[in-house]
Amino acid sequence: MPATSVIGAQWGDEGKGKIIDLIADKADVVVRFQGGANAGHTVIVEGRKHVFHLLPSGVLHAGKLNVIGNGVVIDSEQLLAEIDEFEGGGLRLMDRLKVSGAAHCVMPYHKAIDRLQEGTKAGVRIGTTGRGIGPAYADKAYRSGIRMWDLIDEERLRARLRANLDVKNRVITGAYDGEALDFEEVFQAAREQGRRLAPLVTDTGHLLRSLLARGQHVFFEGAQGVLLDLDHGTYPFVTSSNSDTLGISAGAGVPPAAIGRQLGVMKAYCTRVGDGPFPSELNDAAAERLREGGSEFGATTGRPRRCGWFDVPAARYAAQLCGFDGLVITKLDVLSGLRHIGVVVGYELDGVPLEEFPVDTPRLERVKPVVDLFPGWKEKLTGARSFDELPPACQAFVDEICARVGVPWEILSVGPGRESTIVRSAT
Ligand code: IMP
Repeated sequence: MPATSVIGAQWGDEGKGKIIDLIADKADVVVRFQGGANAGHTVIVEGRKHVFHLLPSGVLHAGKLNVIGNGVVIDSEQLLAEIDEFEGGGLRLMDRLKVSGAAHCVMPYHKAIDRLQEGTKAGVRIGTTGRGIGPAYADKAYRSGIRMWDLIDEERLRARLRANLDVKNRVITGAYDGEALDFEEVFQAAREQGRRLAPLVTDTGHLLRSLLARGQHVFFEGAQGVLLDLDHGTYPFVTSSNSDTLGISAGAGVPPAAIGRQLGVMKAYCTRVGDGPFPSELNDAAAERLREGGSEFGATTGRPRRCGWFDVPAARYAAQLCGFDGLVITKLDVLSGLRHIGVVVGYELDGVPLEEFPVDTPRLERVKPVVDLFPGWKEKLTGARSFDELPPACQAFVDEICARVGVPWEILSVGPGRESTIVRSAT
């Protein structure tokens, strides 16, 4: 069976966790390929809420292999805490989780610098999650990073840490007036984490290529979303990885042709956390209604999410960039009860209609959204199990979005639980 990828098509928080968890049932392997503990996937199974930051969403399914690929940056303390929480809940994980030795470690100084940087008035504030993501990827690009293979080898760890910590401490104390970190403390904690994680660390690229060659069904699970992609998102208000289909091959170590069917996940409206342009943003009672109705508070930071209408130009850009085969539209149920539902159908810049989504962020910041209002529906959707069971106004809304984005829907999500899902074809 070919591989499938599930990618956030907006600014993250599209409800990917539920979808991956749902279709992980049919997968043999679930793979994370980018990002780190900045992600926060919430999955509700039999009424119990699970929040993952680093673990692939497939962990809830017994017998599935879960892989954290080389493109992920790993906070080992966080990963071990998640493993402990799961194993504490009676689930076996260690024998079905593999971690790439080539993945870079998020070290305590990365987190310290991330938070200190965001706290200064100098430079651009991004509104990061404070999880050390940018500084860890910066060290990777700078070729000074510590990889998982270094973490599990005491001598390599000592040498790499020694080479890094002096410089980092000078940055922390000199540039940000922060507190220097103690070498022995950082080393001992990292060594212990390395010792515990060592049995999981392997060449996951080789593993995945062999599994694909054997016909295993692989799911590539995106974190964040297309518009937060380092190269193709709203730079500099982005995360530090390729958080879309384009990042899969490099971040998992598989050929591009192996990526297979590509699903883009979009909420029926838009949200964004952190700073940066958001053309369809609302600042009125409708925003409050979406935030409360959709529980739009960050899974990682608890921050209230900024809310706005569905944005067609942004969604079309994401779909064209990634080449989605199908859309997953989530949180349709949150729109129930609204008299009118807005959809941003285009942009204007200086009074001129724009054909394309402007990837030059200062231009995007100046666009004026063109909003069409669609009739709402009163009915609750959570019990619907087929498209025909949806109210006509909801069907029209879904059809309109898909026609404008240019990609058919494959899955509609009408509630937080696994069962509140409408699937068009066999997934
Ligand atoms: P960082 O990834 O922590 O460096 O944060 C960079 C930007 O990406 C900020 O605007 C964050 O709010 C945003 N971001 C990072 N991870 C997520 C996520 O999982 N969902 C939504 N936004 C995210």
